[in-house]
Amino acid sequence: MKPVKVGICGLGTVGGGTFNVLTRNAESIAARTGRPVIIEHIGARRDNPACDTTNTKISRDIFDVARDPEVDILVETIGGYDVAKELIMLAIDHGKHVVTANKALIAEHGNEIFQAAREKNVIVAYEAAVAGGIPVIKCLREGLSGNKINWLAGIINGTGNFILTEMGDKSRPFEDVLKEAQELGYAEADPTFDVEGIDACHKLTIMASIAFGIPLQFNKAYTEGISKVTPADIQYAEELGYRIKHLGIARHSEKGVELRVHPTLIPASRPMANINGVLNAVVINADAVGETMQVGPGAGAEPTASSVIADIVDIARTIESPATAPQPLGFGVDKLQDTEVLPIGETYSSAYLRIHADDHPGVMNAITRILSDNGINIDAMTQKAARESDGFADIVILTHKTREATLNHALSAIEQLDDVQGPVTRIRVEAMA
Ligand code: HSE
Repeated sequence: MKPVKVGICGLGTVGGGTFNVLTRNAESIAARTGRPVIIEHIGARRDNPACDTTNTKISRDIFDVARDPEVDILVETIGGYDVAKELIMLAIDHGKHVVTANKALIAEHGNEIFQAAREKNVIVAYEAAVAGGIPVIKCLREGLSGNKINWLAGIINGTGNFILTEMGDKSRPFEDVLKEAQELGYAEADPTFDVEGIDACHKLTIMASIAFGIPLQFNKAYTEGISKVTPADIQYAEELGYRIKHLGIARHSEKGVELRVHPTLIPASRPMANINGVLNAVVINADAVGETMQVGPGAGAEPTASSVIADIVDIARTIESPATAPQPLGFGVDKLQDTEVLPIGETYSSAYLRIHADDHPGVMNAITRILSDNGINIDAMTQKAARESDGFADIVILTHKTREATLNHALSAIEQLDDVQGPVTRIRVEAMA
């Protein structure tokens, strides 16, 4: 059978991994695809010493790959927004199928990219954009297509999970662990995307659209990173029987869809609480299947290449009839719903609160009165002995489920108490059930 010819743009961590795995496993990939998959052309500003590209055509101008009439599938692994979008649009315009690992681009411009692909009858595939090597897009879009999805929750940023794990297990400083994650090729070019939850929010946006049949709406999701989580919070959570994980949560309710990314206390007994290091995990709760969980490496060269190549194989299998491939978001484009994405203030969760307060008679009383005046029910409460250095004590409270806006109101009243120092730390709690 006629080979399928691939052009890889970007030969960094993911592009290099894709080159190496496609080369190494060429025989088994061809056996699965029913035709050879050939790397026809590479577009890269610089070589990757981990890749032997001696026999492959290389252009320093990546746009040459998009214009190359020999290339059937363009693989975009350069990342970023403007150039990547221009490249993908040019490839689509030239009638090429596209495989991308670019979650930022799909989450923020996917609606437009999919529309352009539809008009040209080409496929845009993006399995590698979410949770690295875990085939979660295929799972949601195809494996669970008979279900109504109730909610999903994921540890979907490997760098963030690596940092929280190392801080908790080895008491390593945040900056030190982040540096290691960068050296290992886990972190984004701009690591604030990892640390401030933007990367996780891109991935959550994509999963939620496929799960609930809604357009991609990154700008309506709530995002909070891990940079304010302290070793003390990790330790107090542990004492209360919880672990802190950075979760992306999407939930469908009668009122609308919740889309939120934030550090979360999870009961230590839940499997999700025990996903450590660079591993990612996604739990999906759906009406027919019940609950499923997928775990795997969420970043790194070959795990991500594994997903890129799965997309290449899928496209190669349907290359004669691209219209028969699944819709990019699973649902027919005219079937997407305009379900409201709820503002974070209208969501409900339990919360962990850490209040740094002067050790005076009546402080606890004042705090609990504010909570009770706002109808907030306390589930557990403890005060740590005051530090000799400053006489301030940490008061740790777990609340029952509360409306976010109501809790915000109570927290600003607590922060105004003379005996309370600094902002109150609030970390949402999820039972994951
Ligand atoms: N920076 C991302 C992470 C890479 O750490 O998960 C994979 O998307």
